[in-house]
Amino acid sequence: MKLWQKVFLCAFLLFEAVFVAASIYLIEHNFNRNLQKEVERGLTEQFIIYSGLQNNWTYIDNLNQKLGLTRDNTRLFLQTASQEYAGYFDKNLVSIEILDENNNIVFNSFNRKFYGKREELRIPLSIDRKYIIRDIDNKSYLFVTNGLKLKEHAFKLSYIRDISDVYTEKSAQYSLFVKMNIVITLILAIGLYVMIWYLTRSIRRLTRSAQTIAEGDYTQRADVLSEDEVGILARNFNQMVDAVEDKVEELGRIASNKQNFIEYLTHELKTPLTSIIGYADLLRTSRYDEEIFFNSLNYIYSEGKRLEALAFKLMDLLFIENEKPALKKGNVQQLCSEIEEALKPRLMQLNIELAMDIEPHILLLEKDLFKMMCTNLLDNAMKASKEGNRIYLKGYHTGEDVYILEVEDEGIGISQKDIPRIFEPFFMVNKVKSRSQHGAGLGLAICAQIVKLHMGRIEIASKLNQGTKVRIIFPAVCN
Ligand SMILES: Nc1ncnc2c1ncn2[C@@H]1O[C@H](COP(=O)(O)OP(=O)(O)OP(=O)(O)O)[C@@H](O)[C@H]1O
Ligand SMILES: [Mg+2]
Repeated sequence: MKLWQKVFLCAFLLFEAVFVAASIYLIEHNFNRNLQKEVERGLTEQFIIYSGLQNNWTYIDNLNQKLGLTRDNTRLFLQTASQEYAGYFDKNLVSIEILDENNNIVFNSFNRKFYGKREELRIPLSIDRKYIIRDIDNKSYLFVTNGLKLKEHAFKLSYIRDISDVYTEKSAQYSLFVKMNIVITLILAIGLYVMIWYLTRSIRRLTRSAQTIAEGDYTQRADVLSEDEVGILARNFNQMVDAVEDKVEELGRIASNKQNFIEYLTHELKTPLTSIIGYADLLRTSRYDEEIFFNSLNYIYSEGKRLEALAFKLMDLLFIENEKPALKKGNVQQLCSEIEEALKPRLMQLNIELAMDIEPHILLLEKDLFKMMCTNLLDNAMKASKEGNRIYLKGYHTGEDVYILEVEDEGIGISQKDIPRIFEPFFMVNKVKSRSQHGAGLGLAICAQIVKLHMGRIEIASKLNQGTKVRIIFPAVCN
């Protein structure tokens, strides 16, 4: 069963249960009060008749005694007086019955026949009154009876009242309740349906969006229609989809980078291998010629060297990506001096000056990788520079809590369109030139990985034929 159907059913059943119970309670309560009033009224009126008969009899009995009349005329008195009293009431509603001790009728204005035991007549001859409600001919009657003593005779005075109206009223209320319940139930069902349908529309939209996303459309978003819990859920859902979309894009990028990496690598391997195989075959199949022999071996050697360099760089790259070496405190100035020392012979050979200005500092770093990064950047600068150029290696603090390392050259520079691709593995602006310098296009990719490992940032600014500046921003400096 769907959620809206459950909510609808629960609300509907709950309302029905409460409404029916409250209505029944009200009708029954009303009925009991009306019945009680009728009983009290019956008891009062019966008492009035009883008192009237008793007083009148006392008066008549005294008169008889004064007049010296000795005849027993109690029955005649009761018949005449009761007739009189019965006349005071609506004869359709109230009747009087008087029986003697043997339950013989003395007076009776009740004209309906009924059978069965008359519990109320089993009363002691006292003023104690008993009442009973009896159904006769589809009508309900209240019988109120007590004993009536006139001289030495005992009689039973019954007051009979038609109280069917109380029952008719109750039935009328029940039938009104049934009609009202049908109308209210219908209005409630329609109202509830519309209300729940309206309130759950956000959930339905959210479900549809989730389905669309599950089918692979990550651009789909849920509409935030309200600020309630469902609205918050829709907002959180959209945030989750944003995160999933970013992740999917990232995974796609990684997959495509990996694919490109493999394609470039295959290509990079193929070129030197083709040369090596070609020259080896030439040596194998041709007659010995010193020049051919020397040239061929030279090519095989230099292509082999290129392959070796490529293999080492790839190993470095994989090592940084997979191993994530631990960082330790290291003196930047000292490390840069060691790098300068190592590069001195090549700098002298190329007649390039390295101007170094490193503010002393302790950084969290991996020494070998830090050196590898600086060497790669200086190697690039040297490859881009001409004889007599100068390369600057600077290290300094800024106001922010960072340490900046800069490698700047006055070389050929990089065009603006190539800058965004410069960190891609195997990317070389001039492949022929780079290959001739034993470049594999991996140096900057390795630098980017090393910077990432050090939680830093690498930026490159360059102008064609003017030079290039590479900045590495190290965070959280510690001294
Ligand atoms: N300072 C620079 N000046 C001019 N061009 C540069 C500079 N640094 C890098 N480049 C260009 O960017 C390309 C990529 O550099 P990267 O260091 O990744 O590879 P590489 O130097 O060609 O080979 P490798 O570093 O793997 O030996 C280089 O081929 C070069 O064209
Ligand atoms: Mg390089």
